[in-house]
Amino acid sequence: MTMTLEQVAQAMVAPGRGILAADESSGTIKKRFDSIKTESTADSRRDYREMLFRSNDAMKNYISGVILYDETLRQKAKDGTPLAKIISDAGSLPGIKVDAGTKPLQFSPGEVITEGLDKLPERVKEYVALGAKFAKWRAVIDIGAGIPSYTCIKANSHALARYAAICLEGGLVPIVEPEVLMDGAHDIDRCAEVTEWVLKDVFQELYYNRVTLEQIVLKPNMVISGKKSPKQASREEVAEKTVKVLKRTVPAAVPGIAFLSGGQSDEDATAHLHLMNAMGKLPWNLTFSYGRALQAAALKAWSGKPENEAAGAKAFAHRAKMNGLAAAGKWAQGLEKAA
Ligand code: 13P
Repeated sequence: MTMTLEQVAQAMVAPGRGILAADESSGTIKKRFDSIKTESTADSRRDYREMLFRSNDAMKNYISGVILYDETLRQKAKDGTPLAKIISDAGSLPGIKVDAGTKPLQFSPGEVITEGLDKLPERVKEYVALGAKFAKWRAVIDIGAGIPSYTCIKANSHALARYAAICLEGGLVPIVEPEVLMDGAHDIDRCAEVTEWVLKDVFQELYYNRVTLEQIVLKPNMVISGKKSPKQASREEVAEKTVKVLKRTVPAAVPGIAFLSGGQSDEDATAHLHLMNAMGKLPWNLTFSYGRALQAAALKAWSGKPENEAAGAKAFAHRAKMNGLAAAGKWAQGLEKAA
């Protein structure tokens, strides 16, 4: 049974479920493995990811889709089953990161542009044949002295919209991810201002590139204080300001918004999502597409040791459940301690 692009987009943001971002590039996963003193090899990466994807109940109940890196989409589990099949057998959709990472943006010190449009139509075709149902492209906007610039926002939203159009033409639902980083010393209001500007421009470019909004999923940052800001906004303020910016910028035709975690603590990422969903009726489904906030505890519990696989899977299942509840507005702080 083939699903339409609209059906795939809706399934990705189905109530109470969200997306696992497991698409770390070889460089990024090496950094994560360094933190648990584990060598990053094709086999260790496979073993770690197989542990997550085989957390059957968590996958079935709370994970609507998994974003994979090129290597993982082609990899087989220890018993020979393709990893993508383990994901689809659990009732979840396999997806693929198609961007080629960021490069310095010309004449714009401190800013980057995401590359990867070359030969993208051909790659999309291959990924569809390998079983992918959706794709991801991440644009990165930093906040600092004199940045972001108009040039950076324009170049990145144009690339995002070109990517989205290419994916839709080739049969993949595009996750459109413009990430305003939370690394700076700016306060929450500066984040709100920049996020609003970026999202306005992204939707303008999507329109000019004839992207059907019912067929995409938006993956934005939350509106949050910079990590180095002395003024840290409360969880309630983050939830309230994020929803305010989204209401100003994201058309109701978009079926769902799946946030990135961006360096928030596991519990903050969950609490913020819960508070937004607990606010009452919104025009779109709000869920998660977390990398670090879904994996950090599992990575630590596993620590590269086969004998820790059950503990790693358990830690992942817990965060998946907490975030699934948050996506339904049914999380409570007390549920964390019960684990
Ligand atoms: P984080 O949740 O760790 O920010 O990762 C999500 C992601 O896919 C970034 O592109």
